[in-house]
Amino acid sequence: MENIRDYGDLNQKKVLLRLDLNVPLKDGVITDQTRIDKILPIIKFLISNNSKIIIISHVGRPKGKKNKDLSLKPICENLEKKVQKKIRVIYEDIFKLKKEDLFKDPNDRIVFLENIRFYEEEENNDASFAKRLAQLADLFVNDAFSCSHRSHASLCKITEFLPSFAGLQLETEINALKKVTTEIKKPITCIIGGSKISTKIGIIKNLIPKFNNIIIVGGMANTILGYKGNQIGKSIREENCEQIIDEIFKISKSHFCKIIYPEDVLVGKHMNDSSQIKELNKIKNDDLILDIGPKTIDKIQKIIEISETVLWNGPAGYFENPNFANGSYEIAKAIIKKNKDKSIFSVVGGGDTIALINQISAIDNFNFVSTAGGAFLEYLEGKELPGIKALK
Ligand code: 3PG
Repeated sequence: MENIRDYGDLNQKKVLLRLDLNVPLKDGVITDQTRIDKILPIIKFLISNNSKIIIISHVGRPKGKKNKDLSLKPICENLEKKVQKKIRVIYEDIFKLKKEDLFKDPNDRIVFLENIRFYEEEENNDASFAKRLAQLADLFVNDAFSCSHRSHASLCKITEFLPSFAGLQLETEINALKKVTTEIKKPITCIIGGSKISTKIGIIKNLIPKFNNIIIVGGMANTILGYKGNQIGKSIREENCEQIIDEIFKISKSHFCKIIYPEDVLVGKHMNDSSQIKELNKIKNDDLILDIGPKTIDKIQKIIEISETVLWNGPAGYFENPNFANGSYEIAKAIIKKNKDKSIFSVVGGGDTIALINQISAIDNFNFVSTAGGAFLEYLEGKELPGIKALK
């Protein structure tokens, strides 16, 4: 894999730059900017080398349809302020766009294509779409480690049509995770939460042989509670997971890996509700499980206490509502306490987990913070990510 640093003369070269600017947005306002801050080095590097930059990113999951709530405009405006350069958002249809349309004003240095997932061809890894994108530029740079687990056109297919290079942040993330996985000390605890159940549930069984404890919280925990015969009311869950969960518990027994899931929960009737502690057998039809309860917190804290390494991806609850943030905060506090006396090596990953940790200004209390969530877990699984493979 070649790095863009070693390319040579980038003067006036048009660089198609894939970033992951999938930041949390609430009513068009960015609630956590970490993913934007992390890609500033590549932008500054390309500007200092006098390149012309065409940024590609997605935000959210618009599923191939235009959606004004998922426009990249607010993200573009935020980046504009950070790099102090005018950035033009290109709304024209990519199938009609020509190379000469992009930098008509010679002072234009950066343009931003609108959300790439507005095109269904993106997620289909479509060759003619990738070719259209490729004809806009001279070379391609992937600085989006956190979505390199997706076989999408602007990450994979594109590399068949342009000379392709790894970006600076992508290299940093891979080097850090390589170090973490080769120098890891046992007992190792992996905490997996968040709401992207389908992305993560299939990964767990491959993580079992590598870890001593796997703590499942968030949306995936609801799916397990349902499987175990508990009433979970209106809580988010994934259907048809019985076989996967069966395997998770079987494999965990043969590898002496403990699977921990909630023993009690916090519920509300809607997302903005106040919270109520509930034992698992007291959950009602119209309840929403939105956080872990005190007994579960206590159990998780005890496991963290005896761990040498902790890897954490995905919040324990709906932390956007402070009434359901306690479980995640208590997990964070238990890790931070051990981190301060240097008795744990801690890695956190994922957009929401970073946002949560930023809320308590604790980002410096972890050994490594990865921008990646799903990609981080797939990397831990030992898989070669499609976006990385394509660069080779
Ligand atoms: C992420 O936030 O993990 C990446 O941007 C990938 O997003 P996705 O899970 O919607 O593909």
